[in-house]
Amino acid sequence: MENTSIAPLLDVRNLATWFYMPKNLFSRKNDPIRAVDRVSFFINQKETLGLVGESGCGKTTLGRTILGLETPVDGEIIFSGKKIAGAGTALKAKDEKNLRKRMQVVFQDPLSSLNPRMNVMDIVTEGLLEFKMIKKKERADAARRLMGVVGLDKDAIYRFPHEFSGGQRQRINVARAISLNPKLIICDEAVSALDVSVQAQVINLFSDLREKYGLSYLFISHDLSVVSNIADRIAVMYLGRIVEQGRCEDVIFSPMHPYTRALIDAVPVAGKEKQQKMPLSGDVPSPLSPPPGCTFHPRCPKAMDVCRKTFPDVVSSGVIGEHRVACHLY
Ligand SMILES: Nc1ncnc2c1ncn2[C@@H]1O[C@H](COP(=O)(O)OP(=O)(O)OP(=O)(O)O)[C@@H](O)[C@H]1O
Ligand SMILES: [Mg+2]
Repeated sequence: MENTSIAPLLDVRNLATWFYMPKNLFSRKNDPIRAVDRVSFFINQKETLGLVGESGCGKTTLGRTILGLETPVDGEIIFSGKKIAGAGTALKAKDEKNLRKRMQVVFQDPLSSLNPRMNVMDIVTEGLLEFKMIKKKERADAARRLMGVVGLDKDAIYRFPHEFSGGQRQRINVARAISLNPKLIICDEAVSALDVSVQAQVINLFSDLREKYGLSYLFISHDLSVVSNIADRIAVMYLGRIVEQGRCEDVIFSPMHPYTRALIDAVPVAGKEKQQKMPLSGDVPSPLSPPPGCTFHPRCPKAMDVCRKTFPDVVSSGVIGEHRVACHLY
């Protein structure tokens, strides 16, 4: 039986996904790229967790590991009360197929994720046919219904992807993603390529669908202002680790980690002083040779001696401990 009680829909514990590169002249040691390193978080049913962080911090790798496209070296993933990744997990083909139905993904580039030679009807009903949820002759009706759900013209089902605008194409991707009644949708930079006004419309669509179908989202973006428009809770990632997580309002209005503060200060807000309060200097270090201690210390204006030596433990704050931070300041 599926676990529909208070247990989270997705529970990620101590997850680590490393990549091993072939040895060459420049790297004699075979050090791993620690793309995702000891990450823990959960997503409740009907909840949106925003995952934010600079380019290369491991967001996509984390999403791909949850989707089963990368194999973690440590930790575990529990979805709907069932362990789907981690030591000793061997999913049966049937379970794996079922998982593909319950978890869907929407990527950044709406055009390249759509087959240019398939019309919209074929694109959005492909999964339904594969899982034998409809018969072939029911295709057009199913496609019309899905088009309606995502706010597209129901009579456009015989058109091809290139005949739609960027925002419309992303709606087609969303229609395909929800066609199999998933529980969780992973949105990886799903609105990043769209104009700001179109971004807002697609974000509204995600919110409406969540209410309508009780969906949960892992909403990945490098843009904190986008994430704060949709997320119930936010997790901030830096160099493979989640350094802070909590309710959206807590993270945005009372950030604890200096990195989160820097991200917030970098967001342009009308009326806010022009100069940044705590500018973020330097680039994200390579996950191949992360700095010792707290990996953020070389860029941190508050770095102390201890930060250069040991990685901070995660501490909780707030009455229910929902706001968590990994920083020696606390
Ligand atoms: N298949 C792979 N093999 C080796 N290294 C990889 C692989 N995939 C990702 N990486 C490395 O892992 C790190 C995290 O990459 P990832 O794509 O997850 O970051 P990201 O946060 O999604 O970045 P972006 O915001 O640019 O999409 C990067 O250093 C990247 O080079
Ligand atoms: Mg990415």
